[in-house]
Amino acid sequence: MSAAAPLRLGLAGLGTVGVGVVKIVQSQADLLSARTGRTVQITAVSARDRTKNRDADLSGYAWETDPVALARRDDVDVFVEVMGGHDGPAKAATEAAIAAGKDVVTANKALLAHHGQALALAAEAQGRVIRFEAAVAGGIPVIKALTEGLAGNRMKRVMGVMNGTCNYILTRMQSAGLPYDVVFEEARQLGYLEADPNLDVGGIDAGHKLSLLAAIAFGTRVSFDAVELEGIGNVSIDDIRLAEDMGYRIKLLGVAQMTGRGLEQRMTPCLVPSASPLGQLQGGTNMVVLEGDSVGQIVLRGPGAGMGPTASASPLWRLRLPRSQTASLSMRTPCRSIAICCSKIRAKASPKRWSGRPW
Ligand SMILES: NC(=O)c1ccc[n+]([C@@H]2O[C@H](COP(=O)([O-])OP(=O)(O)OC[C@H]3O[C@@H](n4cnc5c(N)ncnc54)[C@H](OP(=O)(O)O)[C@@H]3O)[C@@H](O)[C@H]2O)c1
Repeated sequence: MSAAAPLRLGLAGLGTVGVGVVKIVQSQADLLSARTGRTVQITAVSARDRTKNRDADLSGYAWETDPVALARRDDVDVFVEVMGGHDGPAKAATEAAIAAGKDVVTANKALLAHHGQALALAAEAQGRVIRFEAAVAGGIPVIKALTEGLAGNRMKRVMGVMNGTCNYILTRMQSAGLPYDVVFEEARQLGYLEADPNLDVGGIDAGHKLSLLAAIAFGTRVSFDAVELEGIGNVSIDDIRLAEDMGYRIKLLGVAQMTGRGLEQRMTPCLVPSASPLGQLQGGTNMVVLEGDSVGQIVLRGPGAGMGPTASASPLWRLRLPRSQTASLSMRTPCRSIAICCSKIRAKASPKRWSGRPW
């Protein structure tokens, strides 16, 4: 392939993120070409319903009903998986793309949290890369920060608020004095909740993200099963008021840190000081705090979801020629390392037993 050859994308999924990718490819062609060193083109797309109005011009792209067929097309260099779901078509098509020798870009944290290890090994065997910046904390370039900016650090702790819907619910309960059920319903009406709301309020979505961040930060295998999970469904308005009286706010906080027993990962409601940056975090915004032995503490804050933020965080926009310079798959390190994740911490957390955090 010559240096001038276009980078040809096969885009599986035309929802919030997929249409965001289409819009960026169409509206930022010159910028992308200058930044990636080659023209970025979409050659083919796939979604379930071909007749759906997607507020984007798809007329120049081939349509594939089956995302696996899309992944195998000869005119696709990079398979972009933005369908979602940790099994089914997302997994099958990603595996097919790797087997066909394609690089993969995905925003699908569920897929990677459950199958990241196997997919990374398969990609490595093929000399391909899987990149997934947008899978964690939407528009915040936290994977890049960990793998490149902070590469000279031994990471001590990674923590943060990684699900905007939960943060919206908790901050709305606190600011409006409304009970959980009322705000939950409000969030549903506003379209903030996943089709299966438990992915959000059960802490599962945020747990997926934490497991990916932890694997990258500590060089371990992705181990979602080892994340201690507790959602926000038990947080009452009384808990929120009590916390406020003591100078704290309740956040669904993810913490990953290496302990003498191995890697500890938990995504649970925690008390954070009201005046701290995490305590001040409002609505759907995400915040990730990275602690390295040399750099100290880095705080990244920004939109954790949405069409523009998520699509703009796509690693596609940083692919460069020659191919050897395309940044390697962040999960290669965990692939080669020994799994040192501790098993799930069993202690049952009740709303009255949240531990205060320094943040
Ligand atoms: N939304 C965000 O802000 C955000 C942020 C970070 C990461 N992500 C991740 O990005 C991924 C996509 O999220 P999204 O919000 O864009 O989802 P979405 O709006 O629900 O869109 C999903 C798309 O996938 C298509 N699809 C689903 N099953 C399919 C199948 N079997 N074959 C072909 N196409 C199929 C759907 O087709 P139809 O349109 O025809 O139904 C739809 O276009 C998820 O993994 C999500 O976790 C999302």
